[in-house]
Amino acid sequence: MERLFRLLVAGIRCELDSKMGHLKSKSPALVPIQSGSRTVPYACMAKVAWINGQIVPLEEAKVSAIDHAHLYGDGLFEGIRFYDRKVFRLDDHLDRLYHGITYLGFEMHIPQSELRQIVLDTCRASDEENGYIRLNVTRGTGLGLDPRNIDRTPAVVVIVSTLSLYPPELYERGLDVITSSYRMSPSDALDPRLKCIGGYASNIMAKMEGYKVGAHESLKLNHQGQVAECTGDNVFIIQNNVVKTPHPSVGLLKGITRDVALRLSEELGYKTEETFLTVFDFFTAQEAFVTGTAAEIAPMVKLDGRPIGTGKPGLITLRLMARFREETVTGVPYA
Ligand SMILES: Cc1ncc(COP(=O)(O)O)c(C=O)c1O
Repeated sequence: MERLFRLLVAGIRCELDSKMGHLKSKSPALVPIQSGSRTVPYACMAKVAWINGQIVPLEEAKVSAIDHAHLYGDGLFEGIRFYDRKVFRLDDHLDRLYHGITYLGFEMHIPQSELRQIVLDTCRASDEENGYIRLNVTRGTGLGLDPRNIDRTPAVVVIVSTLSLYPPELYERGLDVITSSYRMSPSDALDPRLKCIGGYASNIMAKMEGYKVGAHESLKLNHQGQVAECTGDNVFIIQNNVVKTPHPSVGLLKGITRDVALRLSEELGYKTEETFLTVFDFFTAQEAFVTGTAAEIAPMVKLDGRPIGTGKPGLITLRLMARFREETVTGVPYA
């Protein structure tokens, strides 16, 4: 009831504020908050973005047409979830982002600790209890590939919104997956460990290939035919009660949920292995599942129309899903 009341008040206030253009001016209705080293206007808004030092309603967050990620895909992102006002594995996501920034040589002007605070402040401004954060950092703005000729101040945007990747019934029924014809890019082209915006065009093609034949996900192999990952998730199988996932050296995004799933499997008493898997291993597995920030842990019950194990979510997968749910309360609180 109290939350409903708060949301109503927040909604009315946001509507009034945006109608009167107050979000950008110094409205007495807004309470300024400190975000990183900046003071930003603050209002309770459901879907918001931090951009250029301001928190604004999501639809007002605009980036330049000559942003290098818009022009060339030259940017990085993180998708992060928050549960019960706590941001899950925030520091792992920031570490991965800043490793990508170092690898690509962006001239990042916001230190990691400051961006961490900005993320927490933006979540607080949204006043949502559960949701999805999208953190984007791009190289800068300017036409032409050569970074020497552009304004190399990274564009940084933090979006707080919601996202459900698969409908709830799929967590009960399990996912139907196909093997995609789109292979992983080799590590000496664009290292799949990089969460690079430009790299996702291939994943989107793979996703489309899947849904055109009624599948929920698509499995990507590397050029040696080893299983790597799905379009937005890592993959696992269970063989003889051992929880196995592709080794990072096959070329994949080393997912944060993947690491959590490996740890939780061990805590539940199962042996784990990062190894080399082919579709043979999936066709003959006892169980399979996918992991990802957006997907969380979801059972995978079919590959290329063939049932995996019993063709139903397996017991170990279900135990892990339940254990993962408990784990989600361990995030960084923002309020
Ligand atoms: C290609 C790809 N693989 C795996 C994952 C899972 O990674 P994480 O668990 O860190 O979200 C994602 C999600 O972002 C992804 O996009």
